[in-house]
Amino acid sequence: MLLRRPTIYLWLGLTSAGVPEKLGCANPPLSPKQRDLCRKKPFLLPSIQDGARLAISECQSQFRHERWNCSTSDQPSVFGHELTSGTKETAFIYAVMAAGLVHAVTRSCSQGNMTECGCDTRLQGLGSPAEGWHWGGCSDHIQYGTWFSRKFMDSSSKNMTSSRGGHTPDTMNQHNSEAGRQAIDKTMSTDCRCHGVSGSCAVKTCWRTMAPFERVGAYLKDRYEHSIQVLDRSRKKVRKKEREHRRVPVDKYKLIHFNKSPNYCLEDRRLGVAGTRGRRCNRSSHGSDGCNLLCCGRGYNTHVVRHVERCECKFVWCCYVRCRRCESMNDMHTCK
Ligand SMILES: *[C@@H]1O[C@H](CO)[C@@H](O)[C@H](O)[C@H]1NC(C)=O
Ligand SMILES: *[C@@H]1O[C@H](CO)[C@@H](O)[C@H](O)[C@H]1NC(C)=O
Ligand SMILES: *[C@@H]1O[C@H](CO)[C@@H](O)[C@H](O)[C@H]1NC(C)=O
Ligand SMILES: *[C@@H]1O[C@H](CO)[C@@H](O)[C@H](O)[C@H]1NC(C)=O
Repeated sequence: MLLRRPTIYLWLGLTSAGVPEKLGCANPPLSPKQRDLCRKKPFLLPSIQDGARLAISECQSQFRHERWNCSTSDQPSVFGHELTSGTKETAFIYAVMAAGLVHAVTRSCSQGNMTECGCDTRLQGLGSPAEGWHWGGCSDHIQYGTWFSRKFMDSSSKNMTSSRGGHTPDTMNQHNSEAGRQAIDKTMSTDCRCHGVSGSCAVKTCWRTMAPFERVGAYLKDRYEHSIQVLDRSRKKVRKKEREHRRVPVDKYKLIHFNKSPNYCLEDRRLGVAGTRGRRCNRSSHGSDGCNLLCCGRGYNTHVVRHVERCECKFVWCCYVRCRRCESMNDMHTCK
């Protein structure tokens, strides 16, 4: 079954492409609740846009070697069918978008751009003087961003744990968004800086910091690979064995999906699948970017491409660098 197309992504798509200030709160297809939130907190619009951009570019980077490469379209729905297919890809999109929003809002809080949030002051003054360190500087305070991401992206505040077991499209999306937010928390780390005469590190100041978003992306990619298939409660016919098997509770860090993914090999316009024809592959790789896997066994074409670069650069006194132009011919392989 198809999941209901969530309007928020229509809007995130628009904001990632355009200028949010111009869009304002009234024009985009926001739900009444989101419109209300948007009106109350217009200063968060740039962060919403940053978060969407961050998430989309990270998705494309994590999946650049996969058959499904997270390509987006200019269509307002951005992700097309993958947003509603109930697959692992849907799960990843929701998680990374929710995480991107937390990350961008928190960044803005830490940089002092916001009156409603700032650095995490709860740790200030604490530490272990005996061991020569204390908390200081600006610890990222993810609570505000997390709160906002929930408020903005979750369609309902209903309890997601259903007594009957299984999920609805809404609870699946909400679960995966939450897993994305948890990923920010899970990947946080502590950074320290030394003080003391000539770098003796007699005293250290430490603070909590969010991981760069690439690390969050890699973490979520791993979750994607271990995504758990759960029961779609709206499906009528489910074998008993399957029903029992899929009823296992899933912790909040894991991603969940309903449907098996298509193989993404061949173009299917109806499903919005681009197929891998024409994709560049690596003949010597046994991974997902290898020609065998990426081209789905269809074979590949080899083209020779000329590559020109600056090389053998020498520093010439004084003061410039002189290089030669080097040409090389490389094989490039693309899927048939
Ligand atoms: C994904 O692959 C398609 C071809 O299947 C290509 O047209 C598109 O540019 C790729 N997108 C990204 C983001 O690499
Ligand atoms: C914070 O504000 C400054 C100055 O307006 C801006 O350059 C910077 O990009 C902002 N940071 C974030 C994370 O929004
Ligand atoms: C949701 O339901 C579970 C089990 O029924 C309960 O333990 C939990 O506290 C509830 N959470 C909320 C936010 O109501
Ligand atoms: C192709 O794959 C091999 C083996 O994984 C790797 O060493 C090489 O750098 C890759 N080449 C390109 C162009 O990515």
